[in-house]
Amino acid sequence: MSAKKEPAPSPEEVAAEMDRLSGRGLGDLGYSDEELERIAGLTWRINRLKREVQAVIPAHVYQRAEVLHGVSDYSGDSYKLAKDCVGTKAKHIIFCGVRFMAETAKILNPDKDVHLPAAEAGCSLSESITAADVRKLKAKHPGLPVAVYINTSAEVKAECDVVVTSANAVKILKKLYAKHERIIFIPDEMMGKNLARDLGKKVGTEMVIWEGRCIVHDNFDAESVNLYRKMYPGVKILAHAECSPSLTSLVDMVGGTGDMMRFVEGTKARSYMLVTECGLGDLARTRFPEKLFVPMCRLCPYMKATTLERILECLRGIDKPSAATRIMVPSETAQRARHSVERMFELAEDKAQS
Ligand code: 13P
Ligand code: SF4
Repeated sequence: MSAKKEPAPSPEEVAAEMDRLSGRGLGDLGYSDEELERIAGLTWRINRLKREVQAVIPAHVYQRAEVLHGVSDYSGDSYKLAKDCVGTKAKHIIFCGVRFMAETAKILNPDKDVHLPAAEAGCSLSESITAADVRKLKAKHPGLPVAVYINTSAEVKAECDVVVTSANAVKILKKLYAKHERIIFIPDEMMGKNLARDLGKKVGTEMVIWEGRCIVHDNFDAESVNLYRKMYPGVKILAHAECSPSLTSLVDMVGGTGDMMRFVEGTKARSYMLVTECGLGDLARTRFPEKLFVPMCRLCPYMKATTLERILECLRGIDKPSAATRIMVPSETAQRARHSVERMFELAEDKAQS
């Protein structure tokens, strides 16, 4: 970008932006007027610059409320975000989420510039396994199809047959089991055990799994679920599929973030507990103000690494992006990983059998 001076919002423009943010529910989340004013100055600048440089901002539902409501163009779970990015007319994708999500966007949109404003936004599941680990696992269990959770690096996806997300894992694994007695599922141990239980498969024999864990969902305590039920009679308890089977066996619904929001929308109960990252509860509170959300959540440090300041910094440097925040995937790896991601689209949307 040229070195021309960046416009600043007038007091009236800041006030109008504060109104817009309040209307989108930020006022109800406990932000003070001073904080809302600071946020409004940043979102005004980001939205102006975003249009100027032709960037689009997808945001995962665990992102900070000011990112989701203030600057994102679309939001959702990992599956929806992967699909929403395809075919974008924007020149740049500023991905507000974690590295594996931005990499998936790059794999599917190789000719776009993809940026991750918080370079350190990784994921404990993604970091639990390498491409060499997958090659060893395949050598130990030759001929088994490998289903890989989307929370993995491009190199890992490139070694696998089909990607799954929390939104479609049951459906895709059922299709794999229709043709194979045994499969490999990596890297989330807890999700693997939940899937094996739901599909009536034996872990270790019919389903070979890996011991990756999500540092957020692995730490919820199953005992508390019973306690909460006593404290809040009638509460509907929903848990993400990355939680332990001891916990998921006690709740009313298990699934991904998109499934959880759809369950709340389609259920008449007054109170809900969303056992997952805190961002989903914040989003649910703004989307369903008439419902009560009992807090039991944890923050994901990777998801919360993205701030408005870092998004603005990324946009300001879009012509000379830092190597850390620009997503690069070698083309051979990207092509192989893309094959696994496209296989997911086919199987999840009934375009192929297995
Ligand atoms: P969803 O695809 O369900 O949004 O999950 C992503 C994730 O990282 C959960 O921890
Ligand atoms: Fe990864 Fe867990 Fe954070 Fe999701 S919540 S990005 S699985 S560490």
